[in-house]
Amino acid sequence: MNHKHLFKEGTDLAGPTLLLLHGTGGNEHDLLPLAERVNPDANVLSVRGNVSENGMPRYFRRLEEGVFDIEDLKRRTKELYDFLDDAAKEYGFDRSKLVAIGYSNGANIAGSLLFHYKDALKAAILHHPMVPLRDIELPDLTNTPVFIGAGTNDPICPPEESEELSTLLHDAGAQVKLHWEHHGHQLSATELQEAVNWYKELSI
Ligand code: MLT
Repeated sequence: MNHKHLFKEGTDLAGPTLLLLHGTGGNEHDLLPLAERVNPDANVLSVRGNVSENGMPRYFRRLEEGVFDIEDLKRRTKELYDFLDDAAKEYGFDRSKLVAIGYSNGANIAGSLLFHYKDALKAAILHHPMVPLRDIELPDLTNTPVFIGAGTNDPICPPEESEELSTLLHDAGAQVKLHWEHHGHQLSATELQEAVNWYKELSI
């Protein structure tokens, strides 16, 4: 399997599996405390980005901050999608019950999975995502709940872009909850708590 990762079996292999996707410079251990908060019983698949930017793991290349290498993003999105299929076979979890939790660059690759595939994710928690790419027709995302944690003063993702992402996903049929914070690009305790509360309302 072509991604460094860790898998932790929860109380029910047939239940939900949380797919953890870290921010730039992170690794597969970073978001484990979030998974524990969101659903301590779930299986966890935590994946390290395959791209290195001066030694910092990422999920796809960028040309500069906020400017993505779109061809690489597309290729890496498929690579991750294929990895998820392989991981489900290897570990025996239910492929149709993957819930992404991504932060920053990890939220952007999760967003790209949603933009490309109808069945990549059952639901997604996106902390400080951007619009991953434009000029693409989104698949039918009916019945896909998506939580977006955004910042009114996020220097990496301006509020208009968070609104745009929310609208694009909503127009594709997703049930979007857009939650605003005022802590720049940081993932704050209140945002995390909102995501936990949101997840608890889902029936997965
Ligand atoms: C990205 O490159 O995905 C975004 O700029 C967020 C980040 O800094 O990772």
